[in-house]
Amino acid sequence: MTDTELRVSKIENGTVIDHVPGGQALNVLAILGIDGAAGEVVSVGMNVPSDRLGQKDIVKIEGRELSQAEVDVLSLIAPEATINIVRAFDVIEKHHVTRPETVHGVLTCPNANCITTENEPVESRFDVLEDGVRCAYCGTILGESIATHIRST
Ligand code: CTP
Ligand code: ZN
Repeated sequence: MTDTELRVSKIENGTVIDHVPGGQALNVLAILGIDGAAGEVVSVGMNVPSDRLGQKDIVKIEGRELSQAEVDVLSLIAPEATINIVRAFDVIEKHHVTRPETVHGVLTCPNANCITTENEPVESRFDVLEDGVRCAYCGTILGESIATHIRST
């Protein structure tokens, strides 16, 4: 049994997001729009020892299998993340996140004049660059600051 397993117990069914950079677990949940209000059973391990990353976060969401589109957005803050789909306690699928070409609705544009920040029904859209994202409407670029522009749930 690894150190991690001692801290966060195994789940029966659901999704385990593993190899998240230390300190990013709450941003992972924000991106996925999970805040516990819908009654989801979620466990989070933060800054647990990892051979590969030194320290990692781990997020376990019970009773929900996340789609590829949902998890790909996570590549922006957790490029090494492993997505494990668990059924009857077994990992039945394991995949890596891949960078999406565009991100819809997850991030907010910091430009106050951007059409996506007005009181209009325009969903935000960002094109994914090598090293950040760019608002498809006004061209504002978010680099390091992506995590601080996740829309609140
Ligand atoms: N896990 C879990 N509940 C289960 C099965 C697995 O929470 N019923 C978690 C494990 O604790 C681990 C992750 O899902 O954090 C991946 O499980 P597994 O593939 O068994 O572990 P590793 O082989 O160590 O994964 P990797 O090679 O991706 O590091
Ligand atoms: Zn914009």
